[in-house]
Amino acid sequence: MLVEYSSELLIEVDCVSKSFGSYLAVDSVSFSVPRGQIFGLLGPNGAGKTTIVKILTTLLSPDSGRATVAGLDVVKEPRRLRSRIGLAGQYAAVDENLTGRENLDLVGRLYHLPKKLVRSRSAELLNDFDLTGAADRVAKGYSGGMRRRLDLAAALIAEPVVLFLDEPTTGLDPRSRNDLWEVLERLAAMGSTILLTTQYLEEADRLAQNLAVIDSGKVIAMGTPSELKSLVGSSVLEVALEDASRHDEAAIVLSAIALDPNKVEIVAGRIRMAIRERSGIVADVVRLLDQSGLPVAEVAVMKPTLDDAFLSLVGHGTKGGSYD
Ligand SMILES: Nc1ncnc2c1ncn2[C@@H]1O[C@H](COP(=O)(O)OP(=O)(O)OP(=O)(O)O)[C@@H](O)[C@H]1O
Ligand SMILES: [Mg+2]
Repeated sequence: MLVEYSSELLIEVDCVSKSFGSYLAVDSVSFSVPRGQIFGLLGPNGAGKTTIVKILTTLLSPDSGRATVAGLDVVKEPRRLRSRIGLAGQYAAVDENLTGRENLDLVGRLYHLPKKLVRSRSAELLNDFDLTGAADRVAKGYSGGMRRRLDLAAALIAEPVVLFLDEPTTGLDPRSRNDLWEVLERLAAMGSTILLTTQYLEEADRLAQNLAVIDSGKVIAMGTPSELKSLVGSSVLEVALEDASRHDEAAIVLSAIALDPNKVEIVAGRIRMAIRERSGIVADVVRLLDQSGLPVAEVAVMKPTLDDAFLSLVGHGTKGGSYD
């Protein structure tokens, strides 16, 4: 089965756009996911996450651009593609009037899987998802977390090559969320390729090897969670000297503590740079400059919140922040 796909990129998205009427919901989005990776699409409400998932699972067609999943074009080969993927949508799609086991049987039939195989896979998945005890009760009585787990089990019944999960933990309590994270980590350890969407940086950080942050339909940042966290975790230092004509000199001195020594700017009569916030940083800055004979007039450290950091990525800039 593994040799079937020549490409090691199991998801490739190239400049995909989608509008609803005049509203551009997905704007030239590109990213790719190699085999065996969990990729996170992180973004606020309305960012376009579900629209991207729907395009990749053939529920919506893109207006322009190209996308392949498991080597198959989403527009040209939707049926073959659908047989190789699993999807747990944003709202758990379980049939309320069927039992957990019957729900899984139904999905197995939709995939035209042999009855015997469905029976054994169902039993295995119900056990994996801690639903064995509830397997023969109708889903109407299931809690939100149980529904989510059943929906996820259904997405896995046909052993999909690529799994799509749209906000798998939204609406779950912390314990259920944690349980689900463990299940997803197990799947990843077994080599599944997964695309998940989330509004939580924490979740993306725990599960995904790579992330795209999207806002207003655009990818505004991409990288590993630690790369994005360093972006989010950084503060902005602003310094003004008593003698503004010596800002260039001070910029060179301060590059020693800058997160990126090549990005120390002089903006609006101040030296400005990203730093890693820590206690005592302001005193250190003053001392460092004093030692170089550069008396400081003003120092400010602005700590962006997570939201600010994302907003700054889209170019709205960070406003306010707390000052040291
Ligand atoms: N069928 C549709 N018709 C019109 N507008 C739509 C449709 N589907 C989505 N949109 C709009 O496209 C934008 C992106 O929606 P989408 O559901 O992809 O966002 P999302 O990132 O999944 O948000 P959430 O976190 O709330 O699920 C939103 O502004 C939404 O209102
Ligand atoms: Mg959504």
